[in-house]
Amino acid sequence: MTPKDRIEQLRADLHKHNYNYYVLNTPEISDKEFDDLMRELQDLEQQYPEYQDESSPTMRVGSDLNKNFVQVAHKYPMLSLANTYSEEEVRDFYDRAYKTLNEDFEVCCELKYDGTSISLTYENGRLIRAVTRGDGEKGDDVTDNVKTIRSIPLLLHGNTYPSSFEIRGEILMPWKVFEALNKDREAREEALFANPRNAASGTLKLQNSSVVASRKLDAYLYYLLGEKLPCNGHYENLQEAAKWGFKTPDTMRKCKTLEEVLEYIKYWDIERKNLPVATDGIVLKVNNLIQQKNLGFTAKSPRWAIAYKFQAERAVTRLNKVTYQVGRTGAITPVANLEPVQLSGTVVKRASLHNADIIENLDLHVGDMVYVEKGGEIIPKITEVDMAARSFMLGEKVHFITVCPECGSKLIRYEGEAAHYCPNETACPPQIKGKIEHFISRKAMNIDGLGPETVDLFYKIGLIKNTADLYKLTVDDIKGLERMGEKSAENIIRGINNSKEVPFERTIFALGIRFVGETVAKKLSRSFANIEELENADLERLTNVDEIGTKIAQSIIAYFSNPSNRELVDALKNAGVQFSRSEEDMSSYTNKLSGLSIVISGVFMHHSRDEYKEMIEKNGGKNVGSISSKTSFILAGDNMGPAKLEKAQKLGVEILSEDEFLSRYDFDTKN
Ligand code: IVH
Repeated sequence: MTPKDRIEQLRADLHKHNYNYYVLNTPEISDKEFDDLMRELQDLEQQYPEYQDESSPTMRVGSDLNKNFVQVAHKYPMLSLANTYSEEEVRDFYDRAYKTLNEDFEVCCELKYDGTSISLTYENGRLIRAVTRGDGEKGDDVTDNVKTIRSIPLLLHGNTYPSSFEIRGEILMPWKVFEALNKDREAREEALFANPRNAASGTLKLQNSSVVASRKLDAYLYYLLGEKLPCNGHYENLQEAAKWGFKTPDTMRKCKTLEEVLEYIKYWDIERKNLPVATDGIVLKVNNLIQQKNLGFTAKSPRWAIAYKFQAERAVTRLNKVTYQVGRTGAITPVANLEPVQLSGTVVKRASLHNADIIENLDLHVGDMVYVEKGGEIIPKITEVDMAARSFMLGEKVHFITVCPECGSKLIRYEGEAAHYCPNETACPPQIKGKIEHFISRKAMNIDGLGPETVDLFYKIGLIKNTADLYKLTVDDIKGLERMGEKSAENIIRGINNSKEVPFERTIFALGIRFVGETVAKKLSRSFANIEELENADLERLTNVDEIGTKIAQSIIAYFSNPSNRELVDALKNAGVQFSRSEEDMSSYTNKLSGLSIVISGVFMHHSRDEYKEMIEKNGGKNVGSISSKTSFILAGDNMGPAKLEKAQKLGVEILSEDEFLSRYDFDTKN
């Protein structure tokens, strides 16, 4: 078999396995077998670039090239749907349609998916473009990101599809993925997504498609458009589209009467809670395309379709008291303790109150009857107080606490922030435990065998008071403790010892300095050779590092100005934790770009944008976003934006081509 044949065979097999797994939910091979085939294809494609193909399954992994989205006009505008909220309004829709059509009609009922809409264009069986809704007239071209969604076919099955058509649908982040993503973000102290819809649309707009690929988005397609569609009915067209490889909703139903429609609504209002993705209503579409045409459109929406929105689920219950939780960073979260109440299939006992302002705005009093809602969000929230239910015996007004419930320290509120904090970083128990848990977590020191419960136990019995104490533990200290055999004890100690090999960038992250997440830690490790340099850096030195602003810089300075943190770092250093860049790392650092402020613009041949950024930083330069008189030069690839070009010329800033830059500073054309 020639390499070309093998490549083609692998592509066909991978497309098929992908479809079986992501659309049909019935995989035929193991994940490992799939990965092996994918790797073989990647290797072959690298070896034989002449067989490159935009629709290859390898295109789904994304790339780290940054690029801004191009705006594309929609061939058919992307309209919205008129909303209805009651049976009455659904009846009105029926009556109106009947009046215009003057004949019977069928209605296709579908779930209204609560994600972000997308328009896909296929030509000759290939996905050629994916565009967001935007303003309905034009949207962003997010093709590279959409290609990473495994349930969207890059190549269609069979040969019965029209040569050119558009299909629209919803991109969604399944609940499970959403919950895991938020958990991960919480651990890294990044802002949480409020609901899967925001998470899906945020993800789709990411610049880096390999991150998009990791977010495991899904898509349901529900609207076929084009000049030559196979059937006269919407439902039938989607059944055809399913044969071409699209994931169309298998929950659609064609109804002949209004009664059947109402039955569908009633059924899914309950059953939707068991679906893997968020839905917020039902869409009713007159099925026949000729009847659709006769009904036509208003300026904003079709007259042949409406959305019926589910009631936001809410319940009334009594507020018993407000308690306060202290997080790893000392952030205080107020929690409403409620009389247990049934809400969307679960019993709700607690709801988040977010911060002091929200409590104040609700004018909350203990004993109030409050409305609890579970919108798209996972944590229920209090939306309103039932003022009419307040008896003359009004309970005590809820005032946000002023001291930490765990250690009694006076709370502080940073300017511009909604949250209150306990400043007692080094002695407040939940903060200490939280810091240790962060330290051992997978993306930090990755200490095998050690989890939050074990940390809790070690802390409770006084074995550890901080992260450095972990390195003093012996097998004898911990074996025989609750559920701890000799094997697990050895495992933990081995894990702790192995963590001494974790590189500098991750040990910086592991310290848990406020606002220093993984990316910032990486940047710091590139700009500072060791922890001493970082400890002694002033505001100017810190803010000189790319993407580090005053807020992060001040937080780093505050961390190291606390003597107990310095002691802790010393203790960790003495225990053997890596607090400097490795030799290997050091060899790729120079000062040859020191003092230079460089703007990167355009598309490059030899290295990706991220690689250039890294190259600049590793060699002492600073990568800046916009051109000013302080810019040393512009590293310009192809298609540099005209506005940038004009500004550079006006300010007399030098423009270096990629090759000029590489040769002037003696860099390789390829790593
Ligand atoms: S059909 C011309 N079907 O709801 C109407 N839309 O307010 C085309 N949506 O932007 C839309 N599920 O993002 C249709 N089964 C479904 C849907 C659906 C969710 C969204 C879509 C659209 C919005 C309309």
